[in-house]
Amino acid sequence: MELAIVTLFPELFGSFLELSFVGRAVHSGILRVHLESMRKHGLGKHLSVDDTPYGGGSGMVMRPDTTVAAIEAAELALASPARPRRVLLTPQGERFTQAKARALASEPSLMLICGRYEGFDERVRHFVDEEVSLGDFVLTGGEVAAMCVVEACIRLLPGVLGNAESATEESFSAVCGGLLEYPQYTRPVSFRELEVPEVLRSGDHEKVRAWRAAASAERTRARRPDLLDQAAKPIAGSKS
Ligand code: 6GU
Repeated sequence: MELAIVTLFPELFGSFLELSFVGRAVHSGILRVHLESMRKHGLGKHLSVDDTPYGGGSGMVMRPDTTVAAIEAAELALASPARPRRVLLTPQGERFTQAKARALASEPSLMLICGRYEGFDERVRHFVDEEVSLGDFVLTGGEVAAMCVVEACIRLLPGVLGNAESATEESFSAVCGGLLEYPQYTRPVSFRELEVPEVLRSGDHEKVRAWRAAASAERTRARRPDLLDQAAKPIAGSKS
């Protein structure tokens, strides 16, 4: 996969792209990343990329000319002939979900455009394919949101996670089965008088399976009843 990130703060992505499985994906060639600095396309002595809103009001608005210049430069910097899917990160976007992560991970070429300040000039929306939001809260910039999207997508690419990790994820996880995960335990058996449930140590795989299914359903009912409706429907493409 080829990824362009358009941002005022390319430095923020340094260690993120070098470490852990994202770093591994980059080093192994599964992922190629281009960082495009919006500042490079700024205007005037101060390389401005924002200005005051027409009609008045507080805050600054990202200019359409500098923003689109950065988007187009990022697109030219990518090697593949496929046009990247342009995704704008804003709190006004469609809610990011595991289904959206799967959809974006299937794109050969992706561009994430991070906003800052109060938002983009409305005309920028004509130059993107979609808008994505992490949820109903406000971040100062789209950079952390872009990292979330990258992390959620990259771990779905073939060869990025080890076999063990991905197999577990696909068969049991909240997002694939549609339910929250059952409680997990490891050693020691007793920690500050908190015990690992007997059934998990019984070696009876059928009982373990039943206990986990019940615990998963119970936890989902208690914490995320909204997931139970969706859980009834199998998710297309899931291995479980
Ligand atoms: Cl994608 N951007 C910003 N600035 N705030 C957010 C968000 C995105 N998602 C939730 N809050």
